[in-house]
Amino acid sequence: MMDEVLEYLQPVPGGLYIDGTLGGGGHTAAILERSAPDGKVLGIDTDQLALDRVGARLVEFVESGRLILAHGNFSDLAQIVKQTGFGAGHPLQGVLLDLGFSSDQMDTPERGFSFGADGPLDMRLDQSLPLTAADIVNGASEQELADIFWRYGDESRSRQLARRIVHMRTQSEFTHTAQLAALMAAGVPRKPGAIHPATRAFQALRIAVNHELESLEKVMPQIVDILEGDKKPLQGEIENQSATETSRAGRMVIISFHSLEDRIVKEFTRREAKDCICPPRLPVCMCGHKARLHILTNKPVVPGELEIEQNPRARSAKLRAAEIAINS
Ligand SMILES: C[S@@+](CC[C@H](N)C(=O)[O-])C[C@H]1O[C@@H](n2cnc3c(N)ncnc32)[C@H](O)[C@@H]1O
Repeated sequence: MMDEVLEYLQPVPGGLYIDGTLGGGGHTAAILERSAPDGKVLGIDTDQLALDRVGARLVEFVESGRLILAHGNFSDLAQIVKQTGFGAGHPLQGVLLDLGFSSDQMDTPERGFSFGADGPLDMRLDQSLPLTAADIVNGASEQELADIFWRYGDESRSRQLARRIVHMRTQSEFTHTAQLAALMAAGVPRKPGAIHPATRAFQALRIAVNHELESLEKVMPQIVDILEGDKKPLQGEIENQSATETSRAGRMVIISFHSLEDRIVKEFTRREAKDCICPPRLPVCMCGHKARLHILTNKPVVPGELEIEQNPRARSAKLRAAEIAINS
C-alpha cells in the first residue's frame, strides 16, 4: 500500500519520520525520496538481519545522516527515540507501522515462518527472544495451545489441533515447520484457491512468539507523545501560509493484517479523538480528557484488486491514519 502510505503520511522536505517496521526498507526509501533533500527517517526493526540488509541497500542515506537505523522493538519507541536523539524533542512529522512480518522473513525457511518450505520451528522476529515456536508447541498445555490458535488465529479447529499436538509430542517433539504443517493439514481436503490448512495456526503461533498485540498496545500512546513533542505547533503557525511545511500536525499511519490488531488501532484512535471518555451514564464530564488525535480514515483503507492480484499477502491489509489534534 505504497501510494496510500505516502498519501496519508505526506512526507515533506526537511520532515522527520519514524518507520517503526523497517522490513525491506521499501516504505523508508519512498519517504526519503519524497522528503528530499533533507528529510530524515529513523528506521527501526526488531530483526537485526533486516537492518543489515537495508543498511547495505540504502548505504548512501545512512552515510549522509538522512537514515538512522536502530535495532529494537517498537514497544520501546520512546526509549529508542531518546537514545538516538532523533528529532531532539521537536515534534516529528510522521510515524509509520506496517505490522507483521516481511517477505524476506517469510521466504527464508530457516526463520521458521513458512509452512510451504521446511525449516526449524522458530518464528522469532527478533533472534534474541527467549522462546521459539517450538518451545511453545512442545511446552504449552493443551488449553494454552487451543487458546492461542483460537484467539490469535480464529482457528475453528483450535481444540482438535491442540489435542493432536499434545498427543503427537509424547512420541517426538516438534522441531520443524513441515512436521507441524503436516499435522495441521492431515485429513483436511484442499479446495482450489483455499488457504493452506496451517495458515491460521501458524499466524497464531507467530503472534504469540513475538507478543505482537502487546507491542502494538504499548506503542500507540508513545506515538502520540512523540508526534506532539515538547513543542507543539500553534494554530496560527498551521494557518499561516508562510509557516514551514514541517509545522503541520504530525501523522501516524498504521497498516495491520489481523482483525485484533486493527481493533487495537481503531479503539485507541477513536478514544484519543474524543474530548470526553466518561461512561455515557455520567451527566457531566468527570475525566477532563482532551482529544489528542484527529482521525483521517473513518473506515480502514484496503488495497485495490490489482495490488491483491500482484501480492496476495496484501489481501487482509487495513490502513488507518490519524493526525495530532492541533488544539490538544
Ligand atoms: C511487513 S514488514 C515491513 C515492510 C516494510 N514496510 C517495507 O517497506 O519493506 C514488518 C517488519 O516489521 C518488523 N517488526 C514486526 N514487529 C516489530 C516490532 N514490535 N518492533 C520492531 N519491528 C517489528 C518485522 O521484523 C518486519 O521486518
